[in-house]
Amino acid sequence: MRQAGRSLPEYRAIREGTTMLESCMRPDLVVEITLQPVRRYGVDAAIFYSDIVTPLKAVGVDLEIKPGVGPVIASPVRSTDDLAGIRPVEPSDVAFLTESVQELVSQLGGTPLIGFAGAPFTVASYLVEGGPSKDYARTKSLMHSDPKLWHALADRLAEVAIAYLVAQIEAGASAIQLFDSWAGSLSPRDYAQFVQPHSAKVFTALEQYGVPRLHFGVNTGELLGLMSDAGADVVGVDWRVPLDEAVRRITANGGPAKPVQGNLDPALLTAGWSVIEPEIDRILAEGKAAPGHIFNLGHGVPPTTDPEVLHQIVKAVQEKSAQS
Ligand code: CP3
Repeated sequence: MRQAGRSLPEYRAIREGTTMLESCMRPDLVVEITLQPVRRYGVDAAIFYSDIVTPLKAVGVDLEIKPGVGPVIASPVRSTDDLAGIRPVEPSDVAFLTESVQELVSQLGGTPLIGFAGAPFTVASYLVEGGPSKDYARTKSLMHSDPKLWHALADRLAEVAIAYLVAQIEAGASAIQLFDSWAGSLSPRDYAQFVQPHSAKVFTALEQYGVPRLHFGVNTGELLGLMSDAGADVVGVDWRVPLDEAVRRITANGGPAKPVQGNLDPALLTAGWSVIEPEIDRILAEGKAAPGHIFNLGHGVPPTTDPEVLHQIVKAVQEKSAQS
């Protein structure tokens, strides 16, 4: 999940004087920052240090990641002409990615590396809104008022995601995650019509590589079946739906049960161990309803989190799951 490293003093120290996007494009920093939480916490897998908008920067979009705000786009995409500003990925665009992943995989030894990309809808939402949004009004309006432009934009972003994910897999990533963080803002009907085909294109293109494909969004309780059917092998669940209920929703329209990932509420990280431990037990018990469970938070790590609490959670989950 995003920002696992942000609460670490060693992360803040190494990022001193470097913008977020600069740090994502420097293999030495990417390698070191990815390893920091692995060293500290002994987690079972590493998540590649990057961002969902890094590929946009690589293909020429003028943007920055503002601290405390998120990705901000200099010229939002609102017309067919604006599409020209997002060119296809060329091999030289992903050279830094290949170098970073190869070095990481060799340093990680047996610990798997999860590569990732942003899904077409969530990346498009930044491009169309110009930055973070509460209601995604311009993005939804564009889908309905100019479906041709919407589908052209989403298709281009699916191509970008495929190029990025393939580069990570070919360089040695063990699994990939497609983040559709803000898809939960859509009705199931709009998701099925405007979003699912584009995410499905990404998953289908990756099928031949045989690596597990994870899919996650926030507030996607109503979409879990559709997101699973898009082609995910593992379905990420935030904290709003318990994992056993998530399994029911994944299978509700006749699809197969799938492993799930989640779903500790990040807000509880500051509530004390007497609150957190029973939550871990509950989540591990409910996760048994799925054919597999990757314990995780329901979303990113808040920057004020005490690293010791995360360490305690990792240890407890490893011990408890080894016993059962
Ligand atoms: O934990 C990690 O460092 C893993 C790498 C990672 C980052 N972004 C680094 C990051 C991952 C997997 C992401 C994905 C990402 N980025 C998503 C999808 C996952 C999710 O959490 O929903 C989204 C929606 C983004 C866009 C984005 N980037 C936002 C909303 C923000 C937060 C802005 C803020 O400061 O509140 C970012 C910045 C960002 N990406 C940081 C990190 C470590 C914080 C940068 C900093 O302040 O140092």
